[in-house]
Formats: sequence, C-alpha cells, structure tokens
Amino acid sequence: MLQSSTSIAVRKGRPTDAKALADVFRQSWQHAYAGIIPHLHLETLIRKRGPEWWRTAARGGADLIVLEAEGAPVGYATLGSSRAQTSQQGEIFEIYLVPSYQGLGLGELMFEACRHRLDQRKLKGLVVWALAANTTATDFYWRRGGRPVSSTFERFGKTRLEKIAFTWD
Ligand SMILES: CC(C)(COP(=O)(O)OP(=O)(O)OC[C@H]1O[C@@H](n2cnc3c(N)ncnc32)[C@H](O)[C@@H]1OP(=O)(O)O)[C@@H](O)C(=O)NCCC(=O)NCCS
Repeated sequence: MLQSSTSIAVRKGRPTDAKALADVFRQSWQHAYAGIIPHLHLETLIRKRGPEWWRTAARGGADLIVLEAEGAPVGYATLGSSRAQTSQQGEIFEIYLVPSYQGLGLGELMFEACRHRLDQRKLKGLVVWALAANTTATDFYWRRGGRPVSSTFERFGKTRLEKIAFTWD
C-alpha cells in the first residue's frame, strides 16, 4: 500500500542512476521472467545490464524515464521510434517496476509519461511487445486499451517464447 506521504517522481534518467537501475533491472527481470526465460539466459541478460550499460545508455541520450520513490529509483522505461515495420511510429521498449512497487498505479503513471514523451517527439501511435507468458504485462496493456495485432517467436536456447505486439493508434 502506497502511503499518501510517499514522495513519487517521474523524471529523465541520468548517468548517476546507473547503479540503482542495474539493481531495479535485476529485481524486476528476475521476478517477471523466472520460470519463463530459462535460468542461464536470464542470468546472462541481467549480467549484461550492469551499471556500465546504464551509464552508457544515459550518456548516449537514450530516452530513459525513471520512477523514483522516496528519492530512489524503483522503476524505469525506455522508448523511441518503433523498431518494427508497423504503422505505429512510437514504441515503449521496456517498462519495469521492482516487485514491491507493482499494483499501486505506478505502472500507469510511467505508461502515461511514456505516451506524453512520444507525443512530444511527434511519434504517432504506439507499439509494445510482451512475452505471451507474461500475463501481468499483457493484462496491463489490454486494460490500457492496447490490442494484440501480431506475434512472433524469440528463441532462448532450445526454448521458443511467443512475443505479442500490442498497439494503440
Ligand atoms: C507491467 C507493470 C509495468 C505494470 O505496472 P503496475 O504498477 O503493476 O500497474 P498499475 O498498478 O499501474 O496498474 C495495475 C492496476 O492497479 C490499479 N491501481 C491503481 N492505483 C492503485 C492503488 N493505489 N493500489 C492498488 N491498485 C491500484 C490500476 O487501476 C490498475 O488496474 P487496471 O489495470 O485494472 O486498470 C508492472 O507490473 C511490472 O513492472 N511488471 C513486471 C515487468 C513487466 O512485465 N514489464 C512489462 C514487460 S513487456
């Protein structure tokens, strides 16, 4: 339960967030994908996203949004021009919250911040990809008005996982 006195901020990510974001990444990805992405692949993904990766991303001008609670990062989102050949120009690449801050309305807050940022960049329409097995994410996008338009498969070693594209016009 979020206390009314809890200070919440959504702001642009900075290189000084790198260490905290590596930790947010580890916690949120372990929680979201344990039992879905094979363990060794998940650990490799997490290792690659250490502080140096985040420092480089923030310095390189990545569109990185940070959700802060009580002065510390507890979530992040990345967004930009859509990577796929879809009619939607904008994409949220990743949106993740640490487990203890999920289900409190903060994902909604970050999602709206992403949409606002895409509007500022004049990118029309939105696509977000989610693993079909990640029902927390697919339910979240469905309830925000996103509709599944296509799917593909991503391979993690011998495991093939379905990915669904949700779009908003
Ligand atoms: C998916 C994710 C970003 C959603 O964020 P979230 O903070 O959990 O979602 P929200 O709390 O904003 O929204 C969930 C529900 O809580 C409700 N809610 C709002 N304020 C609330 C409050 N104070 N207390 C409880 N629930 C509240 C919202 O209305 C919403 O309900 P609805 O979807 O039926 O409209 C988050 O769960 C997450 O990081 N999951 C793991 C990572 C992941 O899967 N990322 C996406 C990869 S594609």
